[in-house]
Amino acid sequence: MSGTSELETLKAELLAEIAGADDLAAIEAVRVSALGKKGRIAQQMAKLGTLPPEERKSFGAATNAVKDAVSQSLEARRADLEAAALEARLQSERADVTLPVRPGPEALGRIHPVSQVFDECVEIFADLGFDVAEGPDIETDEMNFGKLNIPPEHPARQEHDTFYFPQKADGSRLLLRTHTSPVQIRTMEARKPPIRIIAPGRVYRCDSDQTHTPMFHQIEGLVIDETTHMGHLKWVLEEFCKAFFEVSDVKMRFRASHFPFTEPSMEVDIGAEAIGKPGQWLEILGCGMVHPNVLRNCGLDSERYQGFAFGMGLDRLTMLKYGVPDLRAFFAADLRWLRHYGFSVLDVPTLAGGL
Ligand code: PHE
Repeated sequence: MSGTSELETLKAELLAEIAGADDLAAIEAVRVSALGKKGRIAQQMAKLGTLPPEERKSFGAATNAVKDAVSQSLEARRADLEAAALEARLQSERADVTLPVRPGPEALGRIHPVSQVFDECVEIFADLGFDVAEGPDIETDEMNFGKLNIPPEHPARQEHDTFYFPQKADGSRLLLRTHTSPVQIRTMEARKPPIRIIAPGRVYRCDSDQTHTPMFHQIEGLVIDETTHMGHLKWVLEEFCKAFFEVSDVKMRFRASHFPFTEPSMEVDIGAEAIGKPGQWLEILGCGMVHPNVLRNCGLDSERYQGFAFGMGLDRLTMLKYGVPDLRAFFAADLRWLRHYGFSVLDVPTLAGGL
């Protein structure tokens, strides 16, 4: 057989093998056997030396032509196989993005309405420049009462239905805080004005009926600097109520009241049309200008510093906003109730996205 027809046969065989390779591993095997160092084309090249000089040139050129043809064919086949493999994978891993999300544990869990309102308040006050302060649930008499200008035997103590711990050897006794106001004291003792904080948290009073539970939640607000006055207090509370009830206007009524730690003191009602009950007033919070005695008790110069404080019940706000009739249901740990009133874990309240 002449060298040239042998080459033609080899070319035909290799092209047939390439065409018959039906996956990437097979095409690689063909490549190695054809173009590898000891492959069939290299074997042809090795014959060059044995040929008479006049044949070498044309045989070399013909071998190279076969090599090129085989290389091109290999690459083309490889590209086809790769495209087919990708297509097969796309088919098998296809996801229909229009299908509803399968409910995972995050979607099934529910946020308690009080936690939701807690987050809503933090979001609103953060926007007004307040940061969040915390204090312990177990307090001293001094923090819960004394420094708040409620000395022993003060009649205000009776309204607080306090849970006391047993008396210690030195005569003192700890208690469960009856309001979040001790966090005012802790904050003023720990940092210099200007102060602008809210203190949300649990409080305890020995009281239980449809609108009272032994544990409930309050949020305290405190602003202390050299210039803050009652106009600021009213504005902050009005902005809060508008944002919280998601209305553009809210009617508010400030009634003179009394708290030992503020002077003057007020209770605030909102027009219940904000929650769809026109004609009624609802009490939502207590507030006032921080009493100079309280400032002095915390080591602040009462001639220089002034400011306001307010305190409101988170549970009550939750009942008003979300129409929950019985406070006791908040603490019944009833899953059906939680599914009905609860909030999706993924619905984080933001002012931009809605509360
Ligand atoms: N601490 C008061 C209460 O629990 C509420 C309050 C806080 C009033 C701050 C005025 C200022 O009743």
